[in-house]
Amino acid sequence: MNANVYLILTEDGSHSLKNEALNETYHSFHGAVQESAHVFIAMGLGHWCDHHDSSPRILEIGFGTGLNAFLSLIFAEEHQQEVYLESLETFPLPAEIYEALNYAEAVGNAEFGHLFDQLHTSQWGEKAELTAHFSLKKEEAPVHEYSPTTPFNIIYFDAFAPNKQPEMWTMDVLQKMYDSLAPGGFLVTYCAQGQFKRNLKQAGFTVEELPGPPGKKEMVRAVKS
Ligand SMILES: C[S@@+](CC[C@H](N)C(=O)[O-])C[C@H]1O[C@@H](n2cnc3c(N)ncnc32)[C@H](O)[C@@H]1O
Repeated sequence: MNANVYLILTEDGSHSLKNEALNETYHSFHGAVQESAHVFIAMGLGHWCDHHDSSPRILEIGFGTGLNAFLSLIFAEEHQQEVYLESLETFPLPAEIYEALNYAEAVGNAEFGHLFDQLHTSQWGEKAELTAHFSLKKEEAPVHEYSPTTPFNIIYFDAFAPNKQPEMWTMDVLQKMYDSLAPGGFLVTYCAQGQFKRNLKQAGFTVEELPGPPGKKEMVRAVKS
């Protein structure tokens, strides 16, 4: 993928990035933090913790800016909830890009700024215990070549949109996501396209259509029963 990315400001005042080659942003233009907080935290991690006592193991497709990881870390600290996140990425961002992102300030947690940096500086391929409750393992690997050994409870499926990067949304990848989940686990994503929902059902998921973040009508939670 072309490394040409640059910073943009979204409508909630938080940054995102634009990938020029794909002509695609990393988050919703209506608000990066708002989108991530709704789709991945409220409907994903928060939903899991409302219904389970066990600590979730999360797989993320697309580490990108580290925003989902950062909001998960904050959730883990605020709720004293143990969280393990494994995140795949093929294009780790250069320091001059991630150092310019305003997420600690945008979420009103400036004191967590050093933890945002540590999400990025932690070693690829190694588990890092970043706080008492939150650990992260980043894998520099494409989803197509990744085979988890221990099942996950939640998948943050945060790939670029199907019309921009169709190889991320194939039946093969969705089947791999299904196989990577423990029974009762689920995948959350901002995408609610018709063909995608049909493919999820074909892979074995039960599809829940949920209200989307500001500016988007719908999102999806796909459950492995
Ligand atoms: C929508 S953006 C990521 C958003 C990210 N979760 C964030 O909060 O910034 C999609 C990400 O998927 C990554 N990606 C592209 N191809 C990939 C692949 N084959 N496997 C894993 N990640 C990939 C991109 O480099 C990009 O960082």
